[in-house]
Amino acid sequence: MSARLYLGLLLCLVPVAVGSQPTPIIFDTDFVLPPGDDGLALLLALQSPEIEIVGITTVAGNESMERATSDALWVLEQTGNTDIPVYRGANMPWMHEKSEFAVANYGNWHSDDPPPPPPGGHARLRPQDEGAVEFILRTVAKRPGEIVLVAIGPMTNIATAIRMDPHFAANVKELVIMGGAIASLPDGAGNITPNAEFNFWVDPEAARVALRSGIPIELSPLNVSRKTALTREWYEKMVEGDTAITRLLRTTIGARFEREPDRVWLMYDQVAMASVIDRSLVSAQELYVDVDANHGISYGTSVGGETLWPGAEGAQKMRVQHDLDWQRFIELFVERMNQPVRSSAPRR
Ligand code: RIB
Ligand code: CA
Repeated sequence: MSARLYLGLLLCLVPVAVGSQPTPIIFDTDFVLPPGDDGLALLLALQSPEIEIVGITTVAGNESMERATSDALWVLEQTGNTDIPVYRGANMPWMHEKSEFAVANYGNWHSDDPPPPPPGGHARLRPQDEGAVEFILRTVAKRPGEIVLVAIGPMTNIATAIRMDPHFAANVKELVIMGGAIASLPDGAGNITPNAEFNFWVDPEAARVALRSGIPIELSPLNVSRKTALTREWYEKMVEGDTAITRLLRTTIGARFEREPDRVWLMYDQVAMASVIDRSLVSAQELYVDVDANHGISYGTSVGGETLWPGAEGAQKMRVQHDLDWQRFIELFVERMNQPVRSSAPRR
């Protein structure tokens, strides 16, 4: 075989650009099935050769932690990704107690109900015996400076890891968070209270610890989510092919678009995930960001500023996303959903 032919064959077998290794991530999530944003963010990560999912850790948020775990296992099984381990995390925030407001408004983080069966029944795949926090601590200690934590639910697991091991934060490469809403930037209103974003509001004390941890942070708040618009037209492009993923999307999203054809969905966690794949999709600016953990009218509200202000002493500067290249982002998303399913991708 000629050297040129050998090199050509070799290049065909390499799934990622030569010289670049996939980014190892821990996917920390209050998982819900598509059209839930965590579900769509996981499909994006699974379909992206730039990403190595080392493990999935679940937390209470959109639904209970048990439901997040059950639904995540179902998606892995449906897509043939049975080699990705799932670890059960916190089933309640640190301090936030169930209230009439919590029950009457969005989110089932306070629920003790058993997880309902996903379409076709529960997965046979089981979660690991090890807990989420232990897994996060062990993995980061084993691969110091390598792991990116993608946190797209309440920050309970991540903040517990930070509190448990004083060396942990210094060994994390980056923390990419979907959370918060920055009133000093455009589109910065809250989505659960007038000023608070849901993930930070569910566990404000944990969010504050994570934001002050010293880990380099890329924050993807509501300001950037509000630059997205998932319509039925984009959904139809997403399911043009016939794969396990497009079939899963038709089962989980199709009926929603039939019932509400004109509905436009914001994309939250998918933007945070996409920004790990390609940082140039988003625009960001450096701000100090802190979270109000006082049990008053601003509980869970994030505040961002170019300089420190009274009460925010000790807050940390981070990259705060405020805009994205929507066309490039949605085209990447649609393309990845239509690709052959990457279920046999080699994983460490
Ligand atoms: O505020 C948006 C966030 O809350 C997303 O992570 C979404 O999954 C919801 O839980
Ligand atoms: Ca989420």
